Amino acid sequence: MLSNNLNSRGEIVLEINRIYQGDCVEIMKDIDDNSIDFINTDPPFNVGLKYESKIDDNLSSEQYYKWCKSWGVHLYRVLKPRHYAVVASSQINLMALQKAMIDSGFTFHHFLEWLKPNCQKVFTGTVLFNRIELLLVLSKGKPDIKLINRKVLYQDVLQYPNEVPVPGGDANHPARRPVALYKQIIAGFTKPGDLVLDCFLGSGTTAIACKELNRNYIGIELSEIYCKMAKDRTDSVPESLPFMEEQDERE
Ligand SMILES: C[S@@+](CC[C@H](N)C(=O)[O-])C[C@H]1O[C@@H](n2cnc3c(N)ncnc32)[C@H](O)[C@@H]1O
Repeated sequence: MLSNNLNSRGEIVLEINRIYQGDCVEIMKDIDDNSIDFINTDPPFNVGLKYESKIDDNLSSEQYYKWCKSWGVHLYRVLKPRHYAVVASSQINLMALQKAMIDSGFTFHHFLEWLKPNCQKVFTGTVLFNRIELLLVLSKGKPDIKLINRKVLYQDVLQYPNEVPVPGGDANHPARRPVALYKQIIAGFTKPGDLVLDCFLGSGTTAIACKELNRNYIGIELSEIYCKMAKDRTDSVPESLPFMEEQDERE
């Protein structure tokens, strides 16, 4: 797939190592079935955040479930059989998101947990230190566990400080994730040259991690401003990083 932007049926497909601006449900229609090696994505959590894309981040549980399923079915379709997807979730809307992913066809396995040692307390009816963010590990059918590099992903709790964006800074996105976190996840589920999809690219973290790790990516983001932010950040990663041979003996 992806040669000359046409698939085997002569239909248009997306170019790799590019960031596409628009609604991911529409854009993913141009991604060939069974063509993606790994999905790493972080959808809006429906917790009332204010994104530049002005999406409604305050849906009812049922609306959020339906919306998650509208893109979940595409993620499932484009992923290669027996491969993995990691989808982040808030604790509050976990049940709706998890059900939407399962109803889209995915098999749920377990959580990875992003532990943020520097998290500030938030108020959601009770005081909550939102110190743990859950990431759902999913697969398309029975997974090929040899795809996981257990030397990289040797535990399920991944500890990285939350990087709070500075107003006017170069990546002022309200939900930016640490590049180091995404590098561990992507290196753990892929090998060099694999194709990774992030349909909620935000400030570009998945694309940066992929470029640094010599993985290919397709990034999709609704907001023009975040797209530019993602592109600028990804472009600033040098092209000619020395190719790092990974310890790649998978179990
Ligand atoms: C939680 S943020 C992702 C943050 C990202 N992980 C990072 O490190 O910057 C979710 C992103 O999804 C985008 N988004 C919301 N609805 C979308 C849609 N229908 N299609 C594509 N992107 C969308 C939002 O604009 C927002 O930037």
